Formats: sequence, C-alpha cells, structure tokens
Amino acid sequence: MSKVIGMISIKGGVGKTTISASLASALSIIHDKKVLLVDANYSAPNLGLHMDIVEPESTIHDVLAGRVRLSDTIHSRFGVDVVPGSYFYNGKFNMLKLKDRLKTVKRDYDFIIIDSSPNVNDEILSTVLASDGLFIVSTPDYPTLSCSLRAAKIAKQRGKKVYGIILNKIKNPRYEINLQDIEVVMDLPVVARIPEDSTGLKALFHRKPISVYNKRSRFAKEIRKLSSVLSDKKERKSVWDVLFPSDLRREEVNRQLLRKALHGEKA
Ligand SMILES: Nc1ncnc2c1ncn2[C@@H]1O[C@H](COP(=O)(O)OP(=O)(O)OP(=O)(O)O)[C@@H](O)[C@H]1O
Ligand SMILES: [Mg+2]
Repeated sequence: MSKVIGMISIKGGVGKTTISASLASALSIIHDKKVLLVDANYSAPNLGLHMDIVEPESTIHDVLAGRVRLSDTIHSRFGVDVVPGSYFYNGKFNMLKLKDRLKTVKRDYDFIIIDSSPNVNDEILSTVLASDGLFIVSTPDYPTLSCSLRAAKIAKQRGKKVYGIILNKIKNPRYEINLQDIEVVMDLPVVARIPEDSTGLKALFHRKPISVYNKRSRFAKEIRKLSSVLSDKKERKSVWDVLFPSDLRREEVNRQLLRKALHGEKA
C-alpha cells in the first residue's frame, strides 16, 4: 500500500499533530510497524513536544537546507523514528525538497507520517507533494469545514488520494454538523470520530502521544482502529463489543471500505 501519509488541514489547532503522534506510536507499538514521523509544520513545529523531544540538535529544517542527511536527524521515541522541526531556524531552506529527501529513507519504513502546517503556501504543498495519500483533519463546525473543503481541493488538484476525514474535538452534536451532511458536502468519508476531552492536554503536558499516555481513552481507541485499517490487522474487540454487538457505526463501515481500498478484497 501507499506508505507516505500526510495529515492536513487549513485551520490551525484542529489536532493534526496530536493525531499524527498517536497514530505513529499506535502503528509501531500495537502493530509492530516501522514508522517515521516527520514535522512538516515549518513555522510552528510542535511535534517534538508531543514526542518528548526538546531542543533537538538537527531538524527537518537542516535537512531541507541541505546541511545534514535526514537519517542524521532521527530521534527514536515510543518506538517511532521522529524528525522534529526547529522553532528558531532562520536560514534558507527549500520546503519542496521534502519528497526528495524522504526518498532516501522510504524503503526503511512501513509508514512515513507527515504532520503538516495549515498555511496555504509551500508549507502545505510540501506535505501534499511528498505524500502518497492524505487524511484531512477537521472539527465539525462550518468555518473549519469550509477550510477542509479547500484542503481537499488542493490535494485532489495535485492528483493525491484523500483517504478520508478524521473528525476531531466533537463537543455537542446538537450544535455541530452531522456526519452525513459532512460527507455529502466534502464528498469524502469520515473514517474516525474523536470527542473533545482533556486527555490530549494531559498527554501533551507529559510529552507523550495519547496512544501511550492513556490507551483506554476514546481518542486512543479511535486511533487504534484507524491504525488497524492502515496496517491491515484485525481490530481488537472489547469483551463488551463481543457480548453486546451493536449496529456498525457509519465511520466503522467507512473504515472497512478504506481497508478494502488499501489492501484489497481479502480484508
Ligand atoms: N480531541 C481532543 N480533545 C481535546 N483537545 C484536543 C483534542 N485533540 C487535540 N487537542 C488539543 O488541541 C490543541 C491543538 O492540537 P494540535 O496541536 O494537535 O493541532 P494542530 O492541528 O496540529 O495545530 P497546528 O495547525 O497549529 O499545527 C492541543 O492543545 C491539543 O492537546
Ligand atoms: Mg500541529
């Protein structure tokens, strides 16, 4: 399957970095995959903070400036190889070289996950061009969804596959747009639904991905399900689910369809 996966949005703060860190660690820890996680939010590179990397010596900025090899910037954390960014880099670097630089290590990994910037310029393009396929991270409100539409358009214009929408920070469905309407407007499936809760804040405080900090949280469970689809492994069901099976939720059906699209009928 395609293995370079970009997380994009055009609205900031929707959860791209939190989700990228959790998905990468879930793929590694639960499914034993070799994962590279890259911070491509060059102007606000927060990924290191989620992965317990503070003040890295060399970063993606150095790689894109041609100063060091990508393999020399890797920090191993929570089973994941992480390439962090620098808050303070003020030299010149070429964001559009990301795809080229990743080529040098692509064969060493099962997955490369790129955490993007929301800026509609070369920053987001850097991720779009370097990715085989993309997830759009969105919250279920009109302003953010309008931006998400634009993100989908940018990806499609570049001929990239959009696997679906990860809906995050769901608060009060009475005042938010429902899943069916989102799918119709976006013309994309919702493949994960994550509620707003304080786990993200706590995990970030402890500088751990949520999949590591609190495996039982709704956040971690939803990411685990997505990681099962990507790695084509069976979802582990809870005793409760086995004893009291309920109708499949729409996002679960969408995940099964995604699994088929990525891995074929055998799934
Ligand atoms: N489901 C959630 N519930 C509550 N808080 C969340 C959730 N997901 C993310 N957050 C919090 O929202 C904030 C922004 O998240 P994050 O940095 O992942 O967004 P982002 O899309 O990467 O932002 P940027 O575009 O600035 O890079 C963080 O404080 C994070 O802990
Ligand atoms: Mg971010």
